[in-house]
Amino acid sequence: MNFRCAIFDLDGVLVDTAKYHYLAWKELARQLGFEFLPEQNERLKGVSRMTSLNILLETGGLQNRFSEEEKERMAAKKNARYIEYVSQMEESELLAGAKELLQQLKTRGIKTALGSASKNAPLILNNVGIAPLFDVIVDGNRISTAKPNPEVFTLGADMLRIPYSSCLVFEDSEAGLQAAKRAGMYAIGIGNEKNLPSADIVYPCLKEFETDRYFPVKQD
Ligand code: BG6
Ligand code: MG
Repeated sequence: MNFRCAIFDLDGVLVDTAKYHYLAWKELARQLGFEFLPEQNERLKGVSRMTSLNILLETGGLQNRFSEEEKERMAAKKNARYIEYVSQMEESELLAGAKELLQQLKTRGIKTALGSASKNAPLILNNVGIAPLFDVIVDGNRISTAKPNPEVFTLGADMLRIPYSSCLVFEDSEAGLQAAKRAGMYAIGIGNEKNLPSADIVYPCLKEFETDRYFPVKQD
């Protein structure tokens, strides 16, 4: 295996923001009168803000109860709370091995891209100090379709002019892994194998990733 480009999801792969998304949704659920449990949160990973809200409302048995305007207001409220959390983030909140892997890939001449559904990606990347380690950044502000649609990954590869089959994607969500496979890319799951059936292979975290196996050092 010899890939030319590594594409990283953000939430749950490079930074542990999944916990802040969860806390902010849980607070909204409480205000709406129901409890939102960690296992129910799994379905929100990787999908867009509005899809997350729809899944949350369905979980609480409140689907089809609200107008689009009301839902926009709820999503904005959740996002304001989420921003309060992520505004406090700093480099220590990078997940184990994230910065080291990005730096290692740079020294091996591998292109790096961000492929995140989040519209808050620029704020988070700047706070944790890894924005300069990416050749291209594709986030929720640049795409028109959400994972499992592959657009967030194919756009990055197109910008770098790298064939999809030479790209490897790191993802912690099943929706994101499906997006990678639909694009014809190699899909590395980060987390627990039982939640990630679409992965080509799963590692518990980036620190365990076998860099030499996928990005061998070039011999002159
Ligand atoms: C993804 C998260 O990275 O971004 C989802 O896994 C989230 O849980 C989505 O809903 C959108 O994020 P944001 O920051 O634009 O609300
Ligand atoms: Mg994620």
